[in-house]
Amino acid sequence: MSGGEPLRLERLCKQYGGVQAVHDVSVQIKAGEFVSFLGPSGSGKTTTLMMVAGFETPTAGQIFIGARPVTGLPVHRRNIGVVFQNYALFPHLSVFENVAFALKMRGVSGSELRAGVAETLNLVQLGGYEGRMPHELSGGQQQRVALARALVFRPSVILMDEPLGALDKQLREHMQLELKRLQRSLETTVVFVTHDQGEALTMSDRIVVMNEGKVEQIGTPEEIYETPRTRFVASFIGESNFLDAHLNERTDQGLLLDVGGLQVRSTWQGFERQTGPVTLMIRPEKIIPLVAGSRADNEFEGVIQEVVYCGNVVKYRVQLRITPPVFVTVAAPRHACSPRFQISEQVRIGWDARDARLLTGEAKRTTKGVENHEAWSALFSTTDVNRMAILPS
Ligand SMILES: Nc1ncnc2c1ncn2[C@@H]1O[C@H](COP(=O)(O)OP(=O)(O)OP(=O)(O)O)[C@@H](O)[C@H]1O
Ligand SMILES: [Mg+2]
Repeated sequence: MSGGEPLRLERLCKQYGGVQAVHDVSVQIKAGEFVSFLGPSGSGKTTTLMMVAGFETPTAGQIFIGARPVTGLPVHRRNIGVVFQNYALFPHLSVFENVAFALKMRGVSGSELRAGVAETLNLVQLGGYEGRMPHELSGGQQQRVALARALVFRPSVILMDEPLGALDKQLREHMQLELKRLQRSLETTVVFVTHDQGEALTMSDRIVVMNEGKVEQIGTPEEIYETPRTRFVASFIGESNFLDAHLNERTDQGLLLDVGGLQVRSTWQGFERQTGPVTLMIRPEKIIPLVAGSRADNEFEGVIQEVVYCGNVVKYRVQLRITPPVFVTVAAPRHACSPRFQISEQVRIGWDARDARLLTGEAKRTTKGVENHEAWSALFSTTDVNRMAILPS
């Protein structure tokens, strides 16, 4: 199999009537890179992929594969493999015929055709399944045939739109590993669309976070999670607490902020604004319940409002003793020696000055985070009590 080629999207736009489905999207993808487009429903992920594949024509902008501009080329001349969630196999054709189809379309026949199909079916671990019909395969096997069909003509770029969406969780996680293994061994360039943040974080070299047709942020999974640049990214990927704060001063020790009358310090470098109202963002797992004698750069007194056992962590909802009252979520890992708190218990919590991020604007405009009573209520009302028991108080 040949390796991948770089893919470049330059200021891509797509307008459907009055709907700006994709707006000014520029992304440079390296050869052999695995890049995910992640975003909520309607954020323009599929539209972007359709333009790259050639099923949709951009309203503006350019697409390059390697050095070749492909914007005007028909689908079959772009050398791109596609796997879409609903891109079903041909039901009346065998596994062999389904995979052979893409080669026949390209004029391959005879022993070259048979060898190509056999090699690709072996790659996706379906050697011996040539004679089966699609309805005689499991969902995961069907998805692997679809993958073989996309790989068989050795494309330099593969596009996948929610390819694992129809699979159950276990099979999905298995296929994620299979896909990564395959992509690494073939060194193919992959553009992968998902609205599952966990999937994007575990599979991608880089993630493009989309919102309302635009790129919000591009970065490695770690960059996106640790240093979200916007409130949207911070709340869409992982859980976040947002606190209204006032940036008072920049000093050699970092930024000095006021949160509800308490001084808070942040050493985060990535904030341009001088002083004024800001949002302090902190991940639940970065907040530490402090036992007697232990200290943190930033400390708050609070009262435990809710306790939820989540297996790997215990989540506490803590009402901070500031005015007006503010709630934060704390996710504490479960070690044998970790303290366990009960509802109504007084606690001290804190975090390191390096762990808080600053975002412009006020916290209360968000739908997640500190003010998110609804999310907690939903957690308690919809949770299967056998799987996520509330600890006895
Ligand atoms: N053929 C079309 N005609 C008109 N509007 C369209 C068309 N295709 C998509 N849109 C609109 O463009 C926007 C982006 O749609 P798109 O399918 O790219 O979203 P998506 O990010 O793939 O969402 P999802 O996660 O639900 O698949 C949406 O507002 C959608 O309604
Ligand atoms: Mg879509």
